[in-house]
Amino acid sequence: MEVLGIDIGGSGIKGALVDSETGEMLTKRFRLPTPPSRKPQEMAEVVDQLIKHFDYKGPVGCGFPATIKKGVVKSYGNLHKKWLGVKVNELFSEATGLPFTVINDADAAGFATMNYGIGKGKMGLVVMITIGTGLGSGVFLDGRLIPNFELGHIPYKKHSKIESWAAASIKEKENLSYEKWGKRFNKFLALVELIVAPDLIILGGGTSKDFDQFKDHIKIDTPVIASKLRNHAGIIGAAAAVAQ
Ligand code: BGC
Repeated sequence: MEVLGIDIGGSGIKGALVDSETGEMLTKRFRLPTPPSRKPQEMAEVVDQLIKHFDYKGPVGCGFPATIKKGVVKSYGNLHKKWLGVKVNELFSEATGLPFTVINDADAAGFATMNYGIGKGKMGLVVMITIGTGLGSGVFLDGRLIPNFELGHIPYKKHSKIESWAAASIKEKENLSYEKWGKRFNKFLALVELIVAPDLIILGGGTSKDFDQFKDHIKIDTPVIASKLRNHAGIIGAAAAVAQ
């Protein structure tokens, strides 16, 4: 089935048409910037613009950068606090007139990676980490998603969430080299290893394409690999969620 997958991020809202059975992207990715307010209504308008760009009419799968329980935002991450308690699928359906399935963005990226990417067939406890505006996590036991793990929310020193010290957006903001940031990211992975003892960690998100530039600073025991789907995984996994 041809489904529009949308990946909502703190800096961009991206979409593409996807074959929801094979995970193949059928069009190029189209991106619009996330409104700086990061508020519900403004973001819903951008989602509508994206749908108009594809002239799409059908079910939409959407990865959203927050904890989502039964469609409701439970923890808003890097977005505006007005998102708390919002039923995302209803808001986006009202704005666009189309039915929406909404899941956490890192769960979506992990789902695509485990079903169509480098994670296919990997058993045991696999943790997908998406490196972007925040640090997202998707956790899989023998290939099955355990939703809404928020490993980027682990407190670290004076930071209430480690993602506000070790995400890609912080690398950019503080103009950190791959060495400096890689050491921070390694601290984060060491905590992940300590807390959930995964068998494998897969890195996704835009920054994972530069893995070669920071892999020497990753010194944990758990094997760490980069997803080849990069920042397409969120779109593909979101589209696949519709068929689930
Ligand atoms: C949010 C997560 C999200 C991650 C990546 C965090 O700030 O709390 O839900 O998966 O960012 O977008």
